[in-house]
Amino acid sequence: MILWDKKYEIGVRSIDEQHQNLVRLINKVELLLHDAEQGIDIYDDLLAVVTEIKEYTIYHFRYEEKLFHQFHYEFEEEHKKEHDDLIQAVENLDLSGMDENQLEFGKGLVKFLVSWLFRHIGGSDFLYRDMLIANGVK
Ligand SMILES: [Fe+2]
Repeated sequence: MILWDKKYEIGVRSIDEQHQNLVRLINKVELLLHDAEQGIDIYDDLLAVVTEIKEYTIYHFRYEEKLFHQFHYEFEEEHKKEHDDLIQAVENLDLSGMDENQLEFGKGLVKFLVSWLFRHIGGSDFLYRDMLIANGVK
C-alpha cells in the first residue's frame, strides 16, 4: 500500500487531491496483486485499472496544462513534455504479455508509476507551486 505523505502536497488543493487520486488508483493495482498472489486471475480487473489510470492521468495532466497556459508558465513546454512521455510510456505497455504474467506485470507497473509520480511531483510540480499560489489557484 502506497501511503500519501504530506511532504508531497504542493499547496494547491485541486492538484493535491488529483495526486492523491492517482495514488489511490495505484493502490487498486496493489490490492489486485494480493489476489494474484492467491492464484486468482486478475486479468480483467487489471486491464480495467490500467485504463482507469490512463484516463485519469490524462485528465489530470490536461488540468495542469490548462493552468500553465492560462498563466503563461515559463516551463510550460518542458513540463508538458514530461507528461507526454509518461502517456506514451503507458500507451506502450505490453498488455499482450499481461495475461501470461499478471503478478509480475502488476508489480512492475506499480513500481514504475510510483517512482514516476513522486519524482515528477517532487521535481517538476513543485516548480509551479509558487506561480499557481500567487495567481490564487485553489
Ligand atoms: Fe505535472
